[in-house]
Amino acid sequence: MENQNLLPEEKWWGGQNLQQINGFWLLPMMIPGIQRAVAEFKPHPNDIILASFPKTGTTWLKSLLYAIINYSSLDSLVKNSPHDLIPFLEVDVYGESSKSNIMSDTNSCDATRMFNTHIPYQFLGETFESSGCRVVYVTRNPKDTLNSLWHFVNKWKMDEQAPWELEEAVEQFCRGVIPGAPYYEHVLGYRMASLKNPGKVFFITYEELKNDTNTHVKRLIEFLGCPFRDDDKKVEEIVKSCSFEILSSHEVNKFEECRPWFPMPNNSFFRQAEVGDHKRYLSEEAIERIDALTREKFHKSGFIYGI
Ligand code: A3P
Repeated sequence: MENQNLLPEEKWWGGQNLQQINGFWLLPMMIPGIQRAVAEFKPHPNDIILASFPKTGTTWLKSLLYAIINYSSLDSLVKNSPHDLIPFLEVDVYGESSKSNIMSDTNSCDATRMFNTHIPYQFLGETFESSGCRVVYVTRNPKDTLNSLWHFVNKWKMDEQAPWELEEAVEQFCRGVIPGAPYYEHVLGYRMASLKNPGKVFFITYEELKNDTNTHVKRLIEFLGCPFRDDDKKVEEIVKSCSFEILSSHEVNKFEECRPWFPMPNNSFFRQAEVGDHKRYLSEEAIERIDALTREKFHKSGFIYGI
């Protein structure tokens, strides 16, 4: 990957610039970890990778994956943040303050290791394909994704920092210049991979999962090859333990202190958890603008989603 000093830069928010690698805009502090993950990560065939664009339901899927694979220790979700149960590939494993023992703790080829990542398929596709690991990708409609990110950034900004104005956020989202963006290319990269190889890449939307959690959790259980797909009691228990209401009520997830790798506390990953919450914030004009882009990017490529 390119030398970080020579990368194209654009202003984002709060005095921070983003740098562009292969068409994606990234926070400079994340780039070394991303570059190392791309260069060094060698998944085992039975690894499970949760991939997502930020704010699309990562925390929810982390808890569901953990609960499915570790059904007998479901109560770990009471005492631990889902982010502590599944390591973040480009930060916890390959980032500058990575916990060096993560890989050696879980190096047995028989163990099911799980990681999450926001790295685009365009960067990691070959790594995934050559290893045979399974990938679960969650996405969310673009307006709720942007709305969730806008709240996330503004809730925890430092007092002295100016807010991230919503109009500016919409403009930057549409230009594809927010961290991890362009959103549309991120989603389409994983969607194409899932169409090509549905046995290895499971693609789910936040809205489907909200609408009928049990059915989609059963699909996920089947994809992961776990034996209890038809055990309704277990499925109910998993769904309940990972519900927004239950998860956000645990003390660990109400924790206000910042995580070591990011200036965000555990409770910043739980807000409203509603489909369509953007309608309370985005103007008609902003909605029309994002919808037009969604038609252009998703619908024209055959993915009728996001409006
Ligand atoms: P809102 O900001 O719309 O409330 P991520 O985990 O990718 O950062 O996404 C965060 C979004 O998922 C937030 O959306 C958050 O409230 C929501 N969320 C967190 N846990 C959830 C759960 N168990 N069920 C449904 N949504 C959840």
